[in-house]
Amino acid sequence: MEQVRVGIVGLGRLGKIHGQNLAYQIPKAKLCAACSIVPQELEFAKTQLGVQEVYGDYREMLEKAEIDAVVIVTTSSEHCWQIASALDAGKHVFCDKPLGVDVRQCLQAEAAVKRHPELAFMLGFMRRYDKSYAYAKQKIEAGEIGVPYMVKATGVDPEALAEGAIRFAKTSGGIFLDMAIHDIDLMRWFLGCEATEVYALGATFRHPGFREAGDDETGAALYRFENGGIGIIHVGRTAPHGYHVETEVIGTEGSIRISAVPEKNLAMLFNSAGAVTECVESFPERFEEAYLLEMREFIDCVRSGRKPGVSVSDGTKATVIGCATTEAWKKGALVKIQ
Ligand code: NAI
Repeated sequence: MEQVRVGIVGLGRLGKIHGQNLAYQIPKAKLCAACSIVPQELEFAKTQLGVQEVYGDYREMLEKAEIDAVVIVTTSSEHCWQIASALDAGKHVFCDKPLGVDVRQCLQAEAAVKRHPELAFMLGFMRRYDKSYAYAKQKIEAGEIGVPYMVKATGVDPEALAEGAIRFAKTSGGIFLDMAIHDIDLMRWFLGCEATEVYALGATFRHPGFREAGDDETGAALYRFENGGIGIIHVGRTAPHGYHVETEVIGTEGSIRISAVPEKNLAMLFNSAGAVTECVESFPERFEEAYLLEMREFIDCVRSGRKPGVSVSDGTKATVIGCATTEAWKKGALVKIQ
C-alpha cells in the first residue's frame, strides 16, 4: 500500500498533535477522517487538518469511512472497546496509552488483537521512541552498566496544568494509571522482567480538588521485580519549574540518567537569578519528536506487515501493574502483582 488511509478518533490535547503529524509530517499517511464527540474539534479537523469527512459517532466512522487504519486518542476508559471494534472492522490500530483502565477490558482488547493477526496493533508508549530513552536502552543492551537492577523514575506535570488535570482525574484512571504508566512501561523495558509486588502512597498539599475527584496530586510507589530488581516511582502534578521527567537506571557496573535536568535546550541564561537553565514546559514540548517517530513507526509497520515494538500485552501488563499500584495506594498496604 502506497499511502495508509487513516481515521483519527479523539482530537483533544494529544489528538491534535497526532492529527497534525498524520496530516502534515508523514507522507506515507493520509488523514482521511476524524471523529470526536466535541463539535469544535470536528471544526478543527476541517479547518486545521484539511479533513472533510468528520463523524460524531465512532461506529459510523468505522462503517462508512474508506480507511485502512484507526488512531485512537480518546478518553482512556473508551480505548478497549474502540480497539476491538476497529480490528473487527478490518482496520489496523494505533491506540494511545494506557491500553485500558481496567484489566478485564484490556484482556478483551488483547483477544481482539489475537483474533486479527493480519492487522497491526501498536500502543503509544512513546517514550520508547524518544532518542534519549532509545539510546539508554541500546547502552544497557550493550552491557555498559552491567546488569540493571534498579530504575528510579520521576514524572511531574507543571503546576500550570493542575486545574485541567483535576477535571481529567475522574476518567484518567488516577495518577498511577494516567502518569506512572509510562514509568511502569520503562521499568519493565529496562529491567527486562515483571514486577511482583508494590507498595504505594499518595499526598495532596496544594490542590484539594484532586482528593475530591478521588485522586492524589502526588504519588510514590516502590516495586520488587521477579529478578530481585527494584523500581521507585515518583509522579505528581505540581512542578513549579516546568515538566519534570527524569529516569535513572542503575546497574552492577554503572548507571545511566535520562534528562537529569529537564532542559529546554542547550542555552544558559546569566542574569540576576544566576546561571539559569530553563526547563521544558509540557509533554508536547518534551516528547514532540517521540510522538512523530512512534506514528511513523506505526505507519511503516502497516505498510510493511512488520509487527510494532510495543505490543498489546505490554499494554495489559502495564495496566495490571498500574491497577495493583492504585490498589496499594488505596489500601496503604503491600500488594502482590498477579
Ligand atoms: P482530552 O480530554 O483532551 O481529549 C479526549 C478526546 O476524546 C476528545 O476529543 C473527545 O471528544 C474524545 N472522545 C471521548 N470519548 C469519545 C467517544 N466515545 N467517541 C469519540 N470521541 C471521544 O484528552 P487527552 O489529554 O488528549 O488524552 C487522550 C488520551 O491520550 C488519553 O487516553 C490519555 O491518557 C492519552 N495521553 C497520552 C499522552 C502521552 O504522553 N502518550 C499525553 C496525553 C494524553
